[in-house]
Amino acid sequence: MARLPTHAVHGHDHADAYGSHIPPIYLSVIYEYIDYEKGEAIFIDRGNYLRYGREENLTTRALERVVAKLENTEDALAFNSGMAAISATLIHYLRPGGKVVVPMELYSSTFALLNNLSPKFGIRVEKVWPSAEAVAEAIDRDTVIVFLEVMTNPTNKVIDLEYLYKHVDLDRVPLVVDNTFTTPVLLKPVKYGAKLVIHSATKYLGGHNDVVGGVVAGQKDLVRELWEWRRMLGGILQPFEAYMIIRGIKTLEIRFEKQSKSAQTVAEYLAEHPRIEEVMYPGLTKNPYHSTAKKLFEKPLFGGVLSFKLKGGYEDVITFMKRLRLIKRCPSLGGTESMVVIPLKAAAMFIDPEHRLKLGITDNLVRISIGLEDVEDIVEDLAQALNF
Ligand SMILES: Cc1ncc(COP(=O)(O)O)c(C=O)c1O
Repeated sequence: MARLPTHAVHGHDHADAYGSHIPPIYLSVIYEYIDYEKGEAIFIDRGNYLRYGREENLTTRALERVVAKLENTEDALAFNSGMAAISATLIHYLRPGGKVVVPMELYSSTFALLNNLSPKFGIRVEKVWPSAEAVAEAIDRDTVIVFLEVMTNPTNKVIDLEYLYKHVDLDRVPLVVDNTFTTPVLLKPVKYGAKLVIHSATKYLGGHNDVVGGVVAGQKDLVRELWEWRRMLGGILQPFEAYMIIRGIKTLEIRFEKQSKSAQTVAEYLAEHPRIEEVMYPGLTKNPYHSTAKKLFEKPLFGGVLSFKLKGGYEDVITFMKRLRLIKRCPSLGGTESMVVIPLKAAAMFIDPEHRLKLGITDNLVRISIGLEDVEDIVEDLAQALNF
C-alpha cells in the first residue's frame, strides 16, 4: 500500500481522454444532459451527476481524491474555506435539544459559529478543559457531536485521542476532528474512531499563503450526506483553488517535516532565553503533553507552530513584535513564511474570557508559525528582536 508522500503526488490520478497526469482546471459550470427526460447528465463516482458547478467540479473532485487517500477515508468533500467545511458539518449534526461537546480551547471562529448557532438551533454547547478525560465525562445521551482539535491553538495542549477511542462509544457519538494543525503527516484521526476529519486547507495543505479552502474527509455515505449540505449552502471549492491545493499537497510532507524540525530548534532556543518565561511546544521533553504527543503522532515531530510568553507585559510584546525584521506579523499559519501573532488579539478572540486565563492565554503570549526559511535566520531574527 502506498504511503503518504506517494498519495500526495499521485492521489488525484484519474486518466482523462488525453492522459494528462496533472488535473486540468475545469472552468465549465454547466454540463450537457445525456438523458434529458430523466434529467441525467454524466454520472460520476460519488453517485452524482455532473450537472452544475455548485454541485461538482472535476478539478475539485481530484483534490477530494487526494485528501481521502491522505486521511485514509473513502471520500472527501472540498469547501471554499475551512469555516465553510466546519459550518456544513455542524449544521449536519445539530438537532434542537442536542448538546455539542468541545474543548474550551478551539479555533476562534468555530466558537463564534457555535455561539451564534446555539440560540437559533436550540442546542447547548458544553466547553470543557482540553483533555480526553474531560471530553469523555461531558458526553451524555443528548450529545450530538464532539468537535475538537487534537493540538490546541494557541497553547499547544494535546488531547489523547486514544483515550477517547477506548472510553467513548464513538459509533453512538460522532467525533469530528479538525486536523489542520497536526495534518495527516502526524495523525490520521479515523484510526481513533473519528467520523469526519476537517482541514483548513488554507494552512498546511495549501501551504503557501495564497489560497483559501477547506476539506472534510470521511466514509462515503456520510460524505454523500454532507454533499447535500454543500450543495444547499453553496460552499463548493472553486477549480483554480482546488488546483492550487492539489499542487500544495505534493510537498506537504517535506514542508511539514522541515517546519516541525525548525520549530523544535526554535522552541529549544527560546526555552533557554533569559527573556522568555515559558515555551508551549509538545516537542520539548519537559512539556506536560510530550508523552501523549509522542504516543499519538506517527513521526517524532511536533508541528510547526509554537507559543511562548515574554517576560514583562504587553508593552514588551509590542516592542518585540515591532523589532522583528524577517518574521511577518500575520494572523495565519502553516505557510512558507514564518509568522507571528498575539493570540489575545487574533486566534483567541472568541475563547471565553474566563477560560483564557485558565488555559494560559495571557497578554504576553506570542504564537509563531515556522516557515521554510533557514532556521538560523529565524533564530537570528528572534534574537535581535528580543535584544532590547
Ligand atoms: C484550526 C483551524 N480550523 C479552521 C480554521 C478556519 O479555516 P479558514 O480560515 O480556511 O476558513 C482555521 C483558520 O485559521 C484554523 O486555524
